[in-house]
Amino acid sequence: MTDKTVADNRLLHGGDYNPDQWLDYPEILKDDLRLMKLAKANTFTLGVFAWSALEPTEGEFHFDWLDERIEAIYQMGGRVILATPSGARPAWMSKKYPEVLRTTENRMKMLHGGRHNHCFSSPIYREKVAIINRKLAERYGNHPALLMWHISNEYSGDCHCGLCQDNFRNWLKKKYGTLDKLNHAWWGPFWSHTITDWSEVESPSSIGESMVHGLNLDWKRFVTDQTIDFYKHEIVPLREISPSIPITTNFMADTHDLIPFQSLNYSEFAKHVDIVSWDCYPAWHNDWEETKDLAAKVGFINDLYRSLKQQPFLIMESTPSGVNWHDVNKTKRPGMHLLSSMQFIAHGSDSVLYFQWRKSRGSSEKFHGAVVDHDNSETNRVFQEVSAVGGALEKIAEVKGTHKQARVAIVYDWENNWALNDAQGFSDSTKQYPQTLQKHYQSFWKKDISVDIVTLNQELASYDLVIAPMLYMMSLDTISKLENYVANGGTLVSSYISGLVNETDLAHLSGWPATLKRIFGIDVKETDTLYPKDRNTLTYNGKQYEIKDYCTIFERKEANILATYMEDFYQGNPAVVENCYGKGKAYFIGARTEQAFLDDFYEELQKEGNLDSEREILHKEGVSVQRRDSAECYYLFVMNFTEQKQTVTLKESFFDLLKQEIKQEQIELLPYEVTVLKREK
Ligand code: GAL
Repeated sequence: MTDKTVADNRLLHGGDYNPDQWLDYPEILKDDLRLMKLAKANTFTLGVFAWSALEPTEGEFHFDWLDERIEAIYQMGGRVILATPSGARPAWMSKKYPEVLRTTENRMKMLHGGRHNHCFSSPIYREKVAIINRKLAERYGNHPALLMWHISNEYSGDCHCGLCQDNFRNWLKKKYGTLDKLNHAWWGPFWSHTITDWSEVESPSSIGESMVHGLNLDWKRFVTDQTIDFYKHEIVPLREISPSIPITTNFMADTHDLIPFQSLNYSEFAKHVDIVSWDCYPAWHNDWEETKDLAAKVGFINDLYRSLKQQPFLIMESTPSGVNWHDVNKTKRPGMHLLSSMQFIAHGSDSVLYFQWRKSRGSSEKFHGAVVDHDNSETNRVFQEVSAVGGALEKIAEVKGTHKQARVAIVYDWENNWALNDAQGFSDSTKQYPQTLQKHYQSFWKKDISVDIVTLNQELASYDLVIAPMLYMMSLDTISKLENYVANGGTLVSSYISGLVNETDLAHLSGWPATLKRIFGIDVKETDTLYPKDRNTLTYNGKQYEIKDYCTIFERKEANILATYMEDFYQGNPAVVENCYGKGKAYFIGARTEQAFLDDFYEELQKEGNLDSEREILHKEGVSVQRRDSAECYYLFVMNFTEQKQTVTLKESFFDLLKQEIKQEQIELLPYEVTVLKREK
């Protein structure tokens, strides 16, 4: 990891540009430059899927078109993020070297088609990637237009070919050393799964119905490591030839619920990129949630990706209007484009980049939103809204590089999510680990309290409050990390389904781990999984709250009881407790509660920890206020995520960067309106 930053003092605006699709249309290429200026766009990502234009036949390279485009963008005052093209390969390569194609978990070789369809182990693919990446670095690594390297595209998926199986076995040998250790970690004798020779190890497959949870978990870890290994192979020539140019690869989210991408452990991957970047496609204006609730989820995931490196990140892709792959591809309503773009910046992004600059003419993305539509017009609504974002980014350019500060952290752990999803015995439909964290996050987002979403690699000591619900998998190291945090004065919140298995997914013996019993002052006895329509109730501070899905039955030892169950055979038993431990405090929420409980419970902790003090803007439901700080100033992004006009009250006077005027006492925000306020410290 290095501390390289993007060497341009503007907030980046622009996005994926595919001139390789338009080489037979010189008038379009010419017009792109005119439109780029009108859109106030300054940065373009080139070459993401351009391998067949760069190397149309094996060993024959065509860079003229790319030379011309990079130079033209530079002359226009723009910068370039240059991609390595490994996300898709030319047909000649798949035909001549079928080894480069992926093998599915059902051990079927894929045919050439789609994209992201390559084996991460294939020596031939690695060799071809090394050649083209070196050529790109030699040719453009020192070009003044080059701002960053964009490695491949949205790394994802796994390959189950013989080469990958061998690599997996070697990875396991390195990890466990002996088969005895492997068999113990995987609980081998269960259903006669003891491995007697390394060659018997096979990656999990639904045909083989892998019930060996340790194997499933290790395969996912291996896939992350193997993907990172491939990435590290890709960047060798780039680091060598252009050592000062920062390197990123675009991360993703799983859409619909907008939760973190599940298949790769980004907390590991983030260690190897200079800057985290990601592609964000929320389903705005959907018919299953309110705009403000979706906005909170977008906030959560941006805070997670920002927290991975505790520095500003980049939005590498977003859409100016709609996409082409949601169930319903609704276009953003007027105003939403500026609002959602400013929300990225508010949470720490230094860019608003799009997929895609120009709508492609054919194939699957021809109706995906773009800055320039098939009409090539600068007067249509989407182009106008994009130009308005460009203008706004110019006005707030000084926020670039500023930071966010948080005193509250929520723990998100990719490996825990994998293990929990595999666990049988709860209910697959209701586990919802990331969604549960998003609900805890909501109680802070609504109050405009900044939150970092941290992983277990990170330090906890600087936070006043650490929230780690549903941490099913806890190694002894994790347990002692949490213990140290509380013993030294931190406040920790845990919940149902926590601390049940170790890092290889073996249940802890002797009941709930002794250290957890001490921290929380309780002993967890059972987890009751409810049917989706079952309900229970708890009483807390004289009020009653609905509970569903999970109820922990536990014995109180030293803890104070804050809430009790009202129904069922555990009626009267504790449901929520608080315990003083060392210099700190620990809370255990035994059941899945309605949101109102979380809001009220955290309000108490916010008061106690003085987390909600010194507000410059009074809270208003549906209006989110996010803050970024420089040494001298701070900036408040005030965002109306409702369909109504809102009036917000200011306790101080501010300078409105978008309208370039002083604001005091009250501001009115139209539906979806955003304002960016500045104040010196
Ligand atoms: C991303 C991808 C882009 C484009 C976009 C469409 O996942 O990186 O190449 O396909 O989705 O929304």
